[in-house]
Amino acid sequence: MVLQAIKYSRGQLEILDQLKLPHAEEYDHIYSSTDAWHAIKEMRTRGAPAIAIVAALALAVELENMKLSPIAEEVKAFIDEKLEYLITSRPTAVNLADAARKLRKVVDAAAARADASGSNVKNAYIGAAEQMLVNDVQDNEAIGKHGAEWILTNTDTSRNGQVSVLTHCNTGSLATAGYGTALGIIRSLHSQGSLKHAFCTETRPYNQGSRLTAFELVHEKIPATLITDSMAAALLRLKGPTENITAIVVGADRVAANGDTANKIGTYSLAIAARHHGIKFLVAAPRTTIDLSTKSGKDIVIEERPGKEITLIKGPRHDGVSLDLNVVETVSIAANGIGVWNPAFDVTPAKLIDGIVTEVGVVEKDSEGVFHLDGIFDDNSHETRPPTVGGI
Ligand code: MRU
Repeated sequence: MVLQAIKYSRGQLEILDQLKLPHAEEYDHIYSSTDAWHAIKEMRTRGAPAIAIVAALALAVELENMKLSPIAEEVKAFIDEKLEYLITSRPTAVNLADAARKLRKVVDAAAARADASGSNVKNAYIGAAEQMLVNDVQDNEAIGKHGAEWILTNTDTSRNGQVSVLTHCNTGSLATAGYGTALGIIRSLHSQGSLKHAFCTETRPYNQGSRLTAFELVHEKIPATLITDSMAAALLRLKGPTENITAIVVGADRVAANGDTANKIGTYSLAIAARHHGIKFLVAAPRTTIDLSTKSGKDIVIEERPGKEITLIKGPRHDGVSLDLNVVETVSIAANGIGVWNPAFDVTPAKLIDGIVTEVGVVEKDSEGVFHLDGIFDDNSHETRPPTVGGI
């Protein structure tokens, strides 16, 4: 059975409540942009591509089920206002802002036509939002293929052609429309028999690694081991050589024009550890995550989340022997009264990144150590569909 974080058919949207995973698989109905805004803010749905797609489809569902004005300009104004609102749900992941910009363009064009009507504008919006769901899966499969090829070409495969990799946070089917980005690379290595072992971090404070990535790895029967975030450097030192850990692969919430990358807190430390241990550090992201208007990491707004995500932990009761899924408890794990800083993301400088794996190939730095990410947008296909897939 394929894990599905987003279930959509015209007029209907359900999301897998990721706060209940891995212990319960429950879907929430999303009827409107307000429902989506709350689901994103509360992290019932999360991961940069998934956030964008859920927001876009929620508005599609709202439009499909409401009585709309017959006047094109009025429907366009309604859509613009809802998109503006949806973008405020989480600031760091750029995919949602990028999706909103592209959807606005489609709506503007539909409203400017000579035969424009409210229903034409609505249909143009819905068609474009639905296409985003399809595109994301295709993009991720291409990322998986390019990333796996790159690792097998650029790292030591002398041991049975197999490598081990470490990943962080959750970048799989749950964070995207399907397949995943960094986890897609792991999936691709595994499916071609080239993966020795995957290691995943717990990813404090929200535990996307231990709850979600571990869940996906178990579900896919990929050989994998969970570590806490603080064990990564020791893992590379103590098990790197025996396990042939040749790369760390992570996703991204926003890649700036110079390659600086915002991703889940802890990514930066992993990049430093990778450099120290002489292994490759790869960022896997569709072009919807690359924001050429953000010049460098300094310009990325980092979301700060409530301190209670660090001081409290929630889950089903475990009596030491077995789980009781009927009793969900919140437990305090920090001294009462301590101050807390909880940035959800950090920025990894481009100089620590060996390659950025996109759906059109892996971007590497030039001889001066500079990424040229604008090159992958040259064909303008990011506005519609990438026609080709190939190495760069
Ligand atoms: O706070 P989250 O769970 O939304 O953070 C997710 C990440 O940082 C992912 O690594 C990133 O969005 C890429 S998902 C393909």
